[in-house]
Amino acid sequence: MKITFYGHACVGIEVSGKHILVDPFITGNPAASHIDINTLKADYILVTHAHQDHVLDVEAIAKRTNAVVVSNYEIAMHFGHKGLQYHPMNHGGSWKFDFGTVKYVPAIHTSSFADGSYGGQPGGFVIEGEHKNIYIAGDTALTMDMKLIPMRTKLDLAILPIGSNFTMDVDDAIIASDFLDCDKVLGYHYDTFGFIVINHEEAIKKFFDKGKDLMLLEIGASIEL
Ligand code: NI
Ligand code: MN
Repeated sequence: MKITFYGHACVGIEVSGKHILVDPFITGNPAASHIDINTLKADYILVTHAHQDHVLDVEAIAKRTNAVVVSNYEIAMHFGHKGLQYHPMNHGGSWKFDFGTVKYVPAIHTSSFADGSYGGQPGGFVIEGEHKNIYIAGDTALTMDMKLIPMRTKLDLAILPIGSNFTMDVDDAIIASDFLDCDKVLGYHYDTFGFIVINHEEAIKKFFDKGKDLMLLEIGASIEL
């Protein structure tokens, strides 16, 4: 499984020959100006919630690639009405796709589209791939619900927001990694806006001091699980 960071809360996942894109927000992110959305591959686009910093490039990429938009019912229907392929889910539900099993799990956040229309309830995704399992938290507070995830799935990587203000901060992400029983964390949702700027070295050291590994990738960089 290959994970690529495309800035903010956007990650690409390659697993079993399929390309999955999560929460594409690239053309609106000046720090990701070197990423060309017209070259990104996508068989599926997973959307955690409807906020603009998670859905901005969904339509453009899905129209070009014919990717299936996987999200909560309301977001899936929103893109379905625009003529895109979609797969609706809701909290606690799983579906076996051709690259692995996806479970949509709760997040503590909000979810409205840029025009104020209803975007269902926000979530995260647990992906059980052929050899590795990952959790993408989406925008969320620290929540006890995270303790449920390792009861079903042994995680190899947790992708957690660490920017604070709108989501968990670094200290809560450390507690989350305890709840998740996963010491390997990829941080996201930081630095993009003034509200969520963090000190990288301090964040990495805080994880290190707890015997955990926080990875902060350059935009466009990848890790192999
Ligand atoms: Ni949000
Ligand atoms: Mn966000």
